[in-house]
Amino acid sequence: MTMGEAADQTRPVSGGFFITFEGPEGSGKSTQAARLAAWFQSRGANVLLTREPGGTALGLEVRKLLLTTPMTAEAEFLLYLADRAEHVRKKIRPALLSGQVVISDRYADSSYAYQGYGRGLSLAWMRRATEGATGGLIPDLTFLLDLPPEVGLARVEGPKDRLEGEALSFHRRVREGFLTLAELEPERFVVLDAKKDPERLFSRIVREVERRWHG
Ligand code: TYD
Repeated sequence: MTMGEAADQTRPVSGGFFITFEGPEGSGKSTQAARLAAWFQSRGANVLLTREPGGTALGLEVRKLLLTTPMTAEAEFLLYLADRAEHVRKKIRPALLSGQVVISDRYADSSYAYQGYGRGLSLAWMRRATEGATGGLIPDLTFLLDLPPEVGLARVEGPKDRLEGEALSFHRRVREGFLTLAELEPERFVVLDAKKDPERLFSRIVREVERRWHG
């Protein structure tokens, strides 16, 4: 990496708008993210809809490992972070710099919830590493689709992947973790009850976006 690239990575992003969707499996966040992307498009905005893990070629490979291979919590976090570093530099930051709206299905808060609150890794360490890997890129707005794990896991179809197969107690810690993260940053987070009707959820999402996005 050259010095120039490193500097570019930490340059503040202006013009674009970065939205993330967070929450447990089965919360319907991917559907809401896709609807919101279509909503932006219908208003003439240039939008990038993306996801973690898996928003880049490396991410797709890392995702396969993460969802199937047994590993330590530290390795798990660092693989999610490798995916995130690649994702930010190759896709998210360039899109924001060119003024696009970026919507990501999961981002750094998933690591804090799953690997931090869920697996017990140090949040301070994770935050420092994340800042280095992303150049400090934090979303402008984060929707947390909150759901009791019993409900979310019951909605998951087909065989469970490595994380979905974790004990219910793990998923409870993840949920509480997400809620704590939202309490720590009430300006950035909007917490939604994912048990509600998807139409009502979407209207609320649009209202929040209209309040904050002036594209
Ligand atoms: P995926 O199949 O992409 O599903 P989902 O629809 O739930 O987003 O699986 C992603 C899994 O990875 C999911 O169980 C959450 C987990 N995850 C982490 O544990 N840490 C992270 O940093 C990220 C981005 C995801």
